[in-house]
Amino acid sequence: MPKKITLPGLVDVHTHLREPGATQKEDFETGTKAAAAGGYTVILDMPNNPIPTVSPQALDQKIALATGRIYCDLGFHFGATKDSTKHFNLLKNKIFGLKVYMNHTTGDLLLEDGHILEEVFSRWPKGKIIMVHAEGETLIKAINFAGKFKSRLHVCHIATKQEIELIKKAKKQGLDISCEVSCHHLFLTEEDAKSLGPFGKVRPPLATEEDRKSLWDNLDSIDMIASDHAPHTKEEKNGPNPPNGVPGLETSLPLLLTAVSEGRLTIEKLIELTNENPRRIFNIPDQPDTFIEVEFTKPYILNPIPLFTKCHWTPFEGMEVRGRVKRVILRGQIVFEDGKISGPFGKVIFPS
Ligand code: NCD
Ligand code: ZN
Repeated sequence: MPKKITLPGLVDVHTHLREPGATQKEDFETGTKAAAAGGYTVILDMPNNPIPTVSPQALDQKIALATGRIYCDLGFHFGATKDSTKHFNLLKNKIFGLKVYMNHTTGDLLLEDGHILEEVFSRWPKGKIIMVHAEGETLIKAINFAGKFKSRLHVCHIATKQEIELIKKAKKQGLDISCEVSCHHLFLTEEDAKSLGPFGKVRPPLATEEDRKSLWDNLDSIDMIASDHAPHTKEEKNGPNPPNGVPGLETSLPLLLTAVSEGRLTIEKLIELTNENPRRIFNIPDQPDTFIEVEFTKPYILNPIPLFTKCHWTPFEGMEVRGRVKRVILRGQIVFEDGKISGPFGKVIFPS
C-alpha cells in the first residue's frame, strides 16, 4: 500500500518560464501547471528572456501577462546589465533577487567586465539577494565581489566538488552566502550526458560521478534544491546548435522522494531544502492553508507523456522512481489531484 504524507508546498527559486519571447518552449500557463503538478506552490522566474527582464517595462509586462493565468504563485527576478543598475532602487520591492550571469548560457545577459560587475555589486541594495551563475573559477570571482561589497550572495546550480568546496570555505569565513543544487546534477553525470546527447546539454554541464557524489556528501552545506527548469523544444534540441537547459519541475519531487525511500535523504532535510530555506532566504510571503500530499509508491518509470511542460521531454526518462504527488492545495483550493489541474488560482507575489 502506498504511504501518504503531507508536506509544505515546494518553493523553487530558479525557473525559466520563457514568456514573453520564447513561448514555443513554455509559457506562464504551461509552466505553472507543470510546477503545480510537481508539488510546487510558489516559483520564481528568471530574467533571461529574448527581451530580458532588465527594465521596469519588461518586469511590468511579465506581471501583466502572468496575472490571472497562473496555477501556482509566481514571483520574478531581475537581470543585471550595465544599464539596469539605475532601476535597482525603484524595483527592489517588486523583485526577489538580482540575477548576474557571469558565464555564457541561454540569453544575452553575460557580464564579464570587472568594472561593470563592481558597479552591479556595489549598487544592488544591501540585504537583498544577488544570485550568480558562476561556474568553477568564476565562482572565486563572485565570492570576492561579495566579500568586497558585503553582498548577500546566492550561488545558482552548483555542480562540482570544487564549487562546493569554495562555498564551504566562504561560509566558514563568515560570508553571507547560500547555494542551490539541481536534481540533474544530483542524479545524472557526464556518462548520462553521452547517451542523452543534446537532451543532456545544460549549463553547468553534467559533471563526474565524483562531483555528483560530493554534492550528496555535502548536503549540509547546500541550502536548497532548485529546479533550474529550462525547457527547450525537441526540435531546438535536435537542431544544429542545441541550446543548453533541461526541464525539471515535474521530476524533482519524485526523484527526491525516491532518495528518501532509499534512506539517502530524510523528510526533515527535504522540507528544509525545498521549503524552509528558500522561503527564508528569498523572503517569500507565507501561503496559508497551503500544502501537498505525496505518496511513496511501488517503483515506476518516469516517462514524458503526463508532463504538463510544453517541451514534453525529460532527461530522466526511463529512470525508476518511487514517489509521486497526489494532491496540491493552494490557499485551501485543490490545484492538482491525481494528474488533473484546476485553477488558475495562483497570484503574482512580491517579497515580504
Ligand atoms: C538556462 C536556460 O535555458 O535559460 N539553461 C541552462 O542550461 N541551465 C539558463 C541557465 O540557467 O544557465
Ligand atoms: Zn537557469
